[in-house]
Amino acid sequence: MLSHDIPLPPPYRIRVVEPIPFLSPRERREAIAAAGYNPFNLRADQITVDLLSDSGTGATSSAQEAAAAVGDESYAGARSWFRFRDEAADLTGYPHLLPVHQGRAGERVLFSSLLRPGQICVSNTHFDTTHANVELAGAEPRDLPCPEAADLDSAEPFKGNIDLAALEQTLAGPDGPRVGLVLLTITNNGLGAQPVSMANLTAVQAICRRFGVPFFLDAARFAENAWLVREREDGYQELTPREIATRAFQLADGCVISLKKDGLTAIGGLIGLRDDDLFARCEANLIATEGFSTYGGLSGRDLERLAQGLREVVDPAYLAARAGQTARFARMINDAGVDTIQPAGIHALYLNAGRLLPHLSPAEFPGHSLGCQLYLDGGIRSAELGSLYLGTLDAGNRLVSPAPFELVRLAIPRRVYTEEHFLYAAAVLGAIAKDPERIRGYRIVSAPPVLRHFKVRLAPLE
Ligand SMILES: Cc1ncc(COP(=O)(O)O)c(C=O)c1O
Repeated sequence: MLSHDIPLPPPYRIRVVEPIPFLSPRERREAIAAAGYNPFNLRADQITVDLLSDSGTGATSSAQEAAAAVGDESYAGARSWFRFRDEAADLTGYPHLLPVHQGRAGERVLFSSLLRPGQICVSNTHFDTTHANVELAGAEPRDLPCPEAADLDSAEPFKGNIDLAALEQTLAGPDGPRVGLVLLTITNNGLGAQPVSMANLTAVQAICRRFGVPFFLDAARFAENAWLVREREDGYQELTPREIATRAFQLADGCVISLKKDGLTAIGGLIGLRDDDLFARCEANLIATEGFSTYGGLSGRDLERLAQGLREVVDPAYLAARAGQTARFARMINDAGVDTIQPAGIHALYLNAGRLLPHLSPAEFPGHSLGCQLYLDGGIRSAELGSLYLGTLDAGNRLVSPAPFELVRLAIPRRVYTEEHFLYAAAVLGAIAKDPERIRGYRIVSAPPVLRHFKVRLAPLE
């Protein structure tokens, strides 16, 4: 802050820009119909403001591109690997680090080396690919979000926490011996981008030690979690975001990270480990499936961008500007008459579509309807996080049990959009909120058995 509480602008200026398309309403109608009404099937050049994901969609800096220009592409032992490894080791404190091309590759390598069929992985909330990779390892993903998470409107600061009492009960109960891993997602992407407190992480460490269960972090947004800890949790105001992130990593036995988020790059991931035997198993798996352990499917140029990105992402000025941008976007949307999960996190806002469209039942997929309308009216792409994503279907693809909430996620790419893009998106939403009854529901035409939302096809209801 400057004097008089004037917020500082982002600590960068923009010198390379990319044009974005503006399609006509008719072109958008045709595009979404041809995509089977699934925004994942749209072409990126049919989208005006793309809020589908914050993953790999950020802008790199001039320093990252300068570093990439001197990337070392040696097959083994490249200089770029050591630069990246040293940065990641300094940040996380883990003695063993393995590079992977993205988060889910790290999940596959870790889970297939750590979990045995029939075991349980307990989490605050598994992200979709994490859930799928636990199941592919033959294990059962089990979510134990804290009770505060169920109230979308409350201002509780750490609704990303795991339910400590439920975790202890699970470990002490009949299923306890089957728990092979406790995995905390920071921040909780499946549940409103809500952060996990250091107190919760510390308590989970103590419980896991008592029961002898490995405790890992899914740390895709480690810097954003650290920023929210600094803002919201007593005792952390004097620490830098980097110091807070390091303390979080120190509490866990290891981590898996998609660096497409807080690595500030288009691609990349990391596994961090303390255990020597687990490292040996993961390394063997990595070499067979991802690449040698000094590149893991990444180019030297990627590793250079990542090493620099890990420095830039914990800059307090960057994090303050990004958190401020999301908070302002949330206020614009709320003022336009649409509720979002409170309090706003950083990487995304979650629209309460169930509340906005009460005339649609969960079986008519209100979150999906709102997402399609955002595209039809404004060329805005979003992601449904409701019954289409989480509900249970019967053999005829009809909804049997709905998701707890009908949400739409607006993910915010890092360093990409300006205030005007957010004003535009909020205005499109505001127009929808003025006449929500005109929005129709959808039915599923075809759906794949796993990770349905990526490839499902739908049709509007008459
Ligand atoms: C919390 C979390 N874990 C894991 C992943 C998977 O990472 P990736 O997309 O790099 O495979 C994501 C991606 O969005 C995520 O948000």
